[in-house]
Order: sequence, then C-alpha cells, then structure tokens
Amino acid sequence: MTDNPLAGQPVFVAGAGIMGAGIAQVAAQAGHPVRLYDQRAGTAESARGRLADQLAGLVAKGRLDAGIAQQTLARIEPAHGTAQAAGCALVIEAIVEQIDAKRALLAELEAVVGPRCVLATNTSSISVTAIAQGLAHPGRVVGMHFFNPVARMPLVEVVSGLQTDAAVAAAVFALSRHWGKVPVHARSTPGFIVNRIARPYYAEALALLHEQAATPAVLDACLRGAGFRMGPCELMDLIGHDTNFAVTKSVFEACFQDRRYTPSPLQAEMVAGGLLGRKTGQGFYAYADGQPTTPALPVAVTEAPATAGEVTVHGAGPIADFLEHAATAALAAQGWGPARQRGSGWTGLQVDGARLVLTDGRTATEVAAAAGLRDVAVFDRPVALTPASPPAPGMALGYALAAGASDAWAAQAPAWLAALGFAPLPVADAPGLVVARTVAMLINEAADAVQQGVCTEPGADAAMTLGVNHPAGPFEFLSRWSAREVTALLDALDSHYRGERYRTSPLLRRRAVMPQDLP
Ligand code: NAI
Repeated sequence: MTDNPLAGQPVFVAGAGIMGAGIAQVAAQAGHPVRLYDQRAGTAESARGRLADQLAGLVAKGRLDAGIAQQTLARIEPAHGTAQAAGCALVIEAIVEQIDAKRALLAELEAVVGPRCVLATNTSSISVTAIAQGLAHPGRVVGMHFFNPVARMPLVEVVSGLQTDAAVAAAVFALSRHWGKVPVHARSTPGFIVNRIARPYYAEALALLHEQAATPAVLDACLRGAGFRMGPCELMDLIGHDTNFAVTKSVFEACFQDRRYTPSPLQAEMVAGGLLGRKTGQGFYAYADGQPTTPALPVAVTEAPATAGEVTVHGAGPIADFLEHAATAALAAQGWGPARQRGSGWTGLQVDGARLVLTDGRTATEVAAAAGLRDVAVFDRPVALTPASPPAPGMALGYALAAGASDAWAAQAPAWLAALGFAPLPVADAPGLVVARTVAMLINEAADAVQQGVCTEPGADAAMTLGVNHPAGPFEFLSRWSAREVTALLDALDSHYRGERYRTSPLLRRRAVMPQDLP
C-alpha cells in the first residue's frame, strides 16, 4: 500500500446522505483527512453529528476505543463548497442519482483539483463512461460502488468505464483493500455485478407468484431452506418495492429492453398501489409494529411413509448418495435398506411403482408422461448439499405432483420426503420448481457477466456473497452442480415458457459439452 498514490491523502466526499456519511467514516477510520460536502447547508454537520453519536454508542458498549473514535471524528471536516476539494488526491461523489447533477459536479471539481486527483463515483446504476463524458481527463473517473451500510458491508465494486485509466482503477482497488474492504473489479455495464446478477433472485419469485405457483411464504421458506438469509419476497419487502422495481427497470432499459430483465407487472401494481413493503406497512406481508405477520405454511405430511417392499435410490453424485444414506436410515427400523441404481439417468427415489424425482427442469407431469407412470412427484434441488455437508434436518424443500398422480401418492410423496429428512412444501407443477430455477438463473446471469468481461468468476462469487449475502457465489453453486445439468434445466424452462428470459449463456452452453464440465 505504501506505493499507492492515494494512501493517507486528503479525501473530498460530495453528498453527505446515507452513503456519503458512511464513506466519510470509513475513509477517516483508515486515517485520511476527510472533507465532507453537501449542497444543502448543515447536512454535512448533521451527518458528522450522527456519526459522533454512533461512535459514542460503540465506545459506551466497549466495542470501540475512545481514542480511535475521537481521532476518526477529528479527521472529518464539513466543507462549504467544492473549492475545498483543492489539494485532495481523491474525490468520492455520493450525491443524488442523476447523471446531469453528477457530471456538473465533477466538471466543477475538475477545475479545482490537481491533475492527478482521482474522481470516484458511488453511482449504483449510471454508466461510469457516461459520467466521465465531457471532462477534460475522463481517464481519472472510476466507479467506487459501496454497499449500504458502508461501515459494515465489505464489498466495493471498482467500476471501470471505457476511458478509465487502468492505473486509476488499480489505485482505487488497492485503497479499498487498505480500508478493510473487499474490492472487485467490474466493467461499467448495466447493474455492474451485484445489481445485475441478483436480478433473477427477485424475478423468478415474481414469475412464480405471477403464475400462482406458490405463496410468498412458501417461496421464502424454500429459499431460506437453500441457505439464503432472506427469501426473495421478504427481501423485496425490506428493500422497498419502489427501489427494487426501479433497479430492475433501469437494467431493463439500459439493455435496450432485453426481455431477460422484463420487470414484473405484479410488482408494478404493488408500486402503483403504494404497497412498498416494510416502510408502508404492507408488501407481500403485512407489518404490524415493523414485524411481519407471516401466514402459516401448508401442512403436507399427513401420514407415515409406506412401501410394499421395493425402495430404490437412483442416480450418482452427492444428492443421490445423501438420499441413499437417508433412505437407509429411514428403513433401518424395518430391518432392510434401499437398493441403488446409479446409471438410470435420473436422481431420486422409487417406491414400489411410484417415483420421487429430483427436478431436471421438466414438470412432474412431463416426467410422468415420459416414464409412462402416473405416480410421480418432482422435488427441488437441495443446493446447500455438498459431500461435506448434508442438508440441515427439516430443511424446507418444494415438491410438485404430476397431474395424474393418485390421492395415495399425493399423501405418500411428502411422507417420503419427510422420511428423508426434509420439510416438504407443495408448489404447483412449475418447471424447475423454486430453488433450482432461481439458482440456475443466478448462475446463468453470472456466466453471461463473465463472458462479457464484466467480472471474473471469483469476482462474481465475492460480489454475491459479500454484496447481498448469498450463501454461495454463482460459480460455487455451479461447482456443486454441473454446466450440463444447469443448461438442461434452463433449456427445459425455455421450451416451457419461450421468450428470452431463459436464454442460456453461451459460456454455460460451451462448458456443458466439455468432458466432465472442465472449467
Ligand atoms: P441520499 O439522498 O441519502 O444523499 C444524497 C445527498 O447528496 C443529499 O444529502 C443531497 O443534499 C446531496 N446532494 C445532491 N446533489 C448534490 C450536489 N450537486 N452537490 C453536493 N451534494 C448534493 O442518497 P444516498 O442513498 O446516500 O445515495 C447517494 C448515491 O449513492 C447515489 O448515487 C446512489 O445511487 C448511490 N448508492 C446508494 C446506495 C443506497 O443503498 N442508498 C447504495 C449504493 C450506492
């Protein structure tokens, strides 16, 4: 870090709102003198005042040294105009998200700062290339995209526009690391990394809701079961449907209305009706005193699993291995165990003449028709499962029955899933169910981003785990699955729905035909 030209240098932060105040704090904690400017008089002073209160609170709880708190505050000086950017080595703007305002501010600052001063923008959705356009030295403009709350969220997307000087991006990358952050390089493209790759997390839930495949509570339970900290519906309620909808629309418009990113009419209706989520007291859930009133989940298990004596685990790989282990445990009391067939081309459990099949993207009805059977159910992919970690007992898992399944199998399919250790949740017979289609689409979006040079594979993984707390990055999920199976699942979705949403990334499709999914 010692050879970084930005180390310890004065930083000018423009915009003292939520983000600017957080950025000023982080820079000051890392030892930089910070000048904090806001065009609204008194805003920088109040931001500093709020920070003083927060730091005092941490000191009182014994979580921060009083001396460090005092030094941090002493380094932040409210500024009263852009002229005070003179002598700064780095400007970070976090003003209103409007291109004209950002361009005007940077042009004003360019007239004040020295020729080597880096101009960073915290924009979350505007092209860095476009912000730099018209400046005398567009090469010094770089995106430094922090996440809210800045002090706690480790990720920084270091975004290069077409004219960004590589040395400028490298210096900001090194500086972010020095500030204790985890920087990831990104190319300036709509949504950068996180806001782009995260789109399917919301879009697939909205698509399933749109076709009434499951309730918000069931969708959330399924994705929490897969290890996501919050389900998509509760998360959209937290973010605010207006904000979430605006980001989706901005990516959609910036991609020339690529139908892959088509916003949901369901969400548009919620925004139009002011059902914005937590902040208005009503979104997918109702909030009484800030707490969601969550409807009860459907009860699927009504009887014990039964068999006439033939239980076979089909398939190879960690999921089939887990099923064998779980079925063995379930049958142990009866003094016998399941048979195993590895090469049958599907993964799941055969109980007498009925099948529980791991989703491959086809509906249960399609699987039943292809097998010439009535009693078929498909179950969702337990994506958290690795050879080293079995699913947590009672993990929620969606399943769907084939249209012609008997009443007996409708009761037995969830009974067997429960016997295997899952908490089965019924969903409509939608292709790819809930988790499999969502995670496949996250992988697909990440594969496109990598192919288009937006980020690297490790960059995508770091961005998604640190920026939005996903339990695994998209390529980590892919390593537990296979490009061939993900491509097959997406193809099944594509053939079911048509349109552009499930268009498979060329990177995945190429990888799918490589022997054993070699990278
Ligand atoms: P905010 O509304 O809390 O703060 C913006 C501040 O900028 C206001 O205090 C306003 O008075 C000031 N301002 C507006 N025009 C100005 C100008 N010409 N010169 C100086 N100050 C000016 O907004 P927030 O949420 O802090 O967002 C700021 C930027 O950070 C936006 O570009 C936003 O897209 C981006 N961002 C926001 C995130 C969030 O979660 N809120 C996350 C990541 C990026």
